Amino acid sequence: MFNSLKPQPADKILALMGQFRADPRPEKVDLGVGVYKDAEGRTPVMRAIKAAEKQLWERETTKTYTALAGEAEFHAAMAEMVLGADYPKARLSALQTVGGTGACRMAFELARMANPGTTIWASDPTWPNHLSILNFMGQAWKPYRYFDAAARAVDFDAMMADLAGAKAGDVVLLHGCCHNPTGANLTLEQWGVVADLLEEKGAIPMIDLAYQGFGDGLEADAAGTRLIASRLPEVMIAASCSKNFGIYRERTGSLMVLGDEAAKEVTQGTLAYLNRQTYSFAPDHGARLVTMVLTDPALRADWEAELEEVRNGMLGLREQLAAELRQLSNSDRFDFVARHRGMFSRIGASPEQVETMRATNAIYMVGDSRLNIAGLNARTVPLLARAIIDAGV
Ligand code: LMR
Repeated sequence: MFNSLKPQPADKILALMGQFRADPRPEKVDLGVGVYKDAEGRTPVMRAIKAAEKQLWERETTKTYTALAGEAEFHAAMAEMVLGADYPKARLSALQTVGGTGACRMAFELARMANPGTTIWASDPTWPNHLSILNFMGQAWKPYRYFDAAARAVDFDAMMADLAGAKAGDVVLLHGCCHNPTGANLTLEQWGVVADLLEEKGAIPMIDLAYQGFGDGLEADAAGTRLIASRLPEVMIAASCSKNFGIYRERTGSLMVLGDEAAKEVTQGTLAYLNRQTYSFAPDHGARLVTMVLTDPALRADWEAELEEVRNGMLGLREQLAAELRQLSNSDRFDFVARHRGMFSRIGASPEQVETMRATNAIYMVGDSRLNIAGLNARTVPLLARAIIDAGV
């Protein structure tokens, strides 16, 4: 039976991770996978998470099962962080998931159960795994234009023109902040225009919020999501705790669904059912740590302070890289690096130029020229800038 299996395409981001590890060159620079790294190249366990783990180790008396959809405290803490303290409790259903990827997968599953004829609209480009999952599911999807490759900015008119084709019951996938892979984001005003269009079309927004706190701050990064949630009758939000809590391997995420109050019970039951059919309970450890950090004032203050350090560090690197490129290119054509937000910027190099930088300079970025700003430090920024110019970008 297994002889009939066909090889599956490797995930490009994860394949690059393996390629980087195998590279013996000591000066190599990893700007690939979306993992935060400090100036020494480490991905530390955040202070508040470490403290919560210690408390948990002392306090925890059982490892018995939790609630199938996740615990109420986790959902309340996540909803407050994402939607604000006055979130509409009576309309919210929530599911603890295996990371943000799990939340996306469950959102797609829920959409297809609710409307088997739905089409998922995804930005072009988007995180490649969105499309890979949709293809694996056999789920219909359509791209909408998003990125102006020349300006390295959002092409809002093109986006609106394409989304005008969305039908009632279609799902429009949006990146809540820190767009992956481009780094180019909607303004709050544009979020309002998107809300108007979705309202008019009867389409359902699905917001992938994987980097809250990495762009303009914890509150500011949720502003677009909150605007959509306050305006649309039905919304899905897939939130990841991997990056902002630095708990990648704990696989912690949340799918929040806002809908009609009358539909809440069945929606909540369907979410629990999806967990049960897929893997039963989502892992507890990360979700418990997140709940502790969000609800304990001292842990929360320390976590927010460290998250701000991380965010400001990335902003500083953006400024430095933009300044370096301005000087080397004698132009302002790379100033977009400082305007982009989050971990990533798509710098607009061709696949050949990306390959040249890997082969010549041991600089690793994803083939579409997405680079992870957090993979840089004050020493490697000038090396990258030089490599970008030498490659002819
Ligand atoms: C990324 O885009 O690099 C991250 O979201 C990690 C992943 O799973 O791809």
